[in-house]
Amino acid sequence: MEIYRTTGALGAEITGVDLAEDLSDTTVAEIRAAFNEHHVLFFRGQHLTPVQQIAFGRRFGELDTHPFVEGNEMYPEILDVVTDPEDVANFGGGWHTDVTFLPEPDLGSILYAVEVPDQGGDTLFANQHAAYDAMSDGLKALLNGLEAVHSAGPQYQEGGYSTRSKLMKTKNPDLAAETVRHPVTRTHPENGRKALYVNRAFTTGIIGMYPHESAALLRMLHDQTTREAFTCRFRWEPGSVAMWDNRSVQHYAMFDYAGQTRHMRRVTIKGDKPV
Ligand code: SIN
Repeated sequence: MEIYRTTGALGAEITGVDLAEDLSDTTVAEIRAAFNEHHVLFFRGQHLTPVQQIAFGRRFGELDTHPFVEGNEMYPEILDVVTDPEDVANFGGGWHTDVTFLPEPDLGSILYAVEVPDQGGDTLFANQHAAYDAMSDGLKALLNGLEAVHSAGPQYQEGGYSTRSKLMKTKNPDLAAETVRHPVTRTHPENGRKALYVNRAFTTGIIGMYPHESAALLRMLHDQTTREAFTCRFRWEPGSVAMWDNRSVQHYAMFDYAGQTRHMRRVTIKGDKPV
């Protein structure tokens, strides 16, 4: 197994591993160590059936299903992330961390490319440890005592951004308005590093602040979380895999391929309560 860093900020491409195989504990431990160090891992030239992708995901924990999007009919743990040529919006088309509207958001996601557009459809990733580390001590001290509200409402209530896909069927819109609280900064349970933990898609306010204060602070933090210097960008090919850490990374599925099909399969690994 060889590991090549993607940018100075985050990411690494791993070669010499066939994810369809029944991997040894040593190989899984090496992948996990690389995951904790680089935050998003890329693999190319893979050939994964849904069953093999589920089996690979289960080596890192129990798999989750999406509360607001229908999973694959035969394999509920698989979420088919599909853009139809007629779609005017895509799934994940904005900076976000997956499912932070849950009390225990998923630890990470593993995305496998089935069909990709001729051009475009890249995914961008941003390192939230780097975003935290680059702030002043004064701002860190303020943020470390704060909690934020997260909700699926803006995305999954009737008419929300993520309900516009032709082929991805959303469900339970009435439950999407529920809210949870998470710390504005969290400590990664495996690598021990602090990370910023607010995102544009699901964070709706800061506890204990007036709405205009909360909106202004969140605007500033959203800029900080996605500064170019903290990012990398992945160009997909059929058979590519990206595996990202939702405890330390935000991502953005670029929608610059209108009129073309893009089909990915995603599994998500259950996580714990952010602290
Ligand atoms: C997602 O947000 O999980 C989708 C990412 C992608 O399609 O690139």
